[in-house]
Amino acid sequence: MTPDLECTDLTRRFGETLAVDDVSFSVPAGSFFSILGPSGCGKTTIMRMIAGFLEPTSGDIQIKGRSVLDVPPNKRPVNMVFQHLALFPMMNVEANIGYGLRRAGMAKPEISRKVDEVLERIGLPGVGKRKVDELSGGQRQRIAIARCMVLEPDVLLLDEPLGALDLKLRERMKIELKALQAEFDTTFVYITHDQSEALVMSDRIAVMNKGKFEQVGTGQDLYFRPQTPFVASFVGDSNRWRGTVERTSGSTVELRTETGLTMRAAAKSPQAKGATVDIFVRPEAIRLAHDDADLAQFDNRIFGRVSSLLFNGAASRILVESYESGGEVEVTLPQSGEFSDLKRGVPVHIGWTAENANCFAAGEG
Ligand SMILES: Nc1ncnc2c1ncn2[C@@H]1O[C@H](COP(=O)(O)OP(=O)(O)O)[C@@H](O)[C@H]1O
Ligand SMILES: [Mg+2]
Repeated sequence: MTPDLECTDLTRRFGETLAVDDVSFSVPAGSFFSILGPSGCGKTTIMRMIAGFLEPTSGDIQIKGRSVLDVPPNKRPVNMVFQHLALFPMMNVEANIGYGLRRAGMAKPEISRKVDEVLERIGLPGVGKRKVDELSGGQRQRIAIARCMVLEPDVLLLDEPLGALDLKLRERMKIELKALQAEFDTTFVYITHDQSEALVMSDRIAVMNKGKFEQVGTGQDLYFRPQTPFVASFVGDSNRWRGTVERTSGSTVELRTETGLTMRAAAKSPQAKGATVDIFVRPEAIRLAHDDADLAQFDNRIFGRVSSLLFNGAASRILVESYESGGEVEVTLPQSGEFSDLKRGVPVHIGWTAENANCFAAGEG
């Protein structure tokens, strides 16, 4: 099936700045696609090119199989929701949602019917006569989306739409946005610098860095199988070490970190003896035990003492300082609550597999 959106070799320069560098991707109909990356990596520039506010330096943008490069923004079958929702404060909800339809010349009764229908679908029936500033932040968010959805775009572009909301509301809106997307069955392209937003909502995510896509995949792909050190460090938390390869055996390497830990790790690209590498191990991939014998199946084992307790409810962690090298390792406490009464200074054993230690050439990305 033809994808709803397909960008091919998309590039945009601003003078010397290469804001978007040869990016290609396609988004199947009805799916939720996110572009995740740090501020300044080129996300908004991609959106503005898709929406038609900015011309690509080179490359093509197709919507439902047709190039839209020579289609002006108001004629493209896309709509864009910005961080600052730009609802008209002087108009009521109905007038806000009907704005685009009025501009398109639709008859009043028809507009009224469409507005009622979309308010129903976003779970806010009957608020049409209310002023925008009588609504909560979350309701305003839904109205902003309804205002786009009523135009029935092929693709909805959302540029950090939750960025201005407080944390609690953002958490709730993540769930609501995902539900709205499923309800309308519209293709969403969502950009954010917040990995949790991307992981929770998306069918697929592109991780973007310095104008390029580093990896495109499901949340699970990015989290468990990062292909570049940038993805490994940007998505989720990791222990991160720099080290030197001492031995190699197939794709497994033995190395020593700068902090003096010896480790077996999985090389994501071929490494030779003496190579400098970066190693990433997730805190939740590390097992805790009172007895080293319980960790026999792990390639990497350390005996140390608890040097810090980082209490954070179900996501609590500890730092373990190796007796041998003094290096520290961050470890997630098990959900079972088994180690919830650990105290600082207590000796513990920790272990993790080589497979859970992702190793890349140092400085890659
Ligand atoms: N109109 C512009 N003129 C010059 N440089 C720009 C313009 N728009 C964006 N840039 C530059 O392009 C890069 C990417 O910007 P942007 O797409 O806004 O990033 P993001 O949305 O990921 O934060 C930045 O270096 C930014 O300074
Ligand atoms: Mg931006």
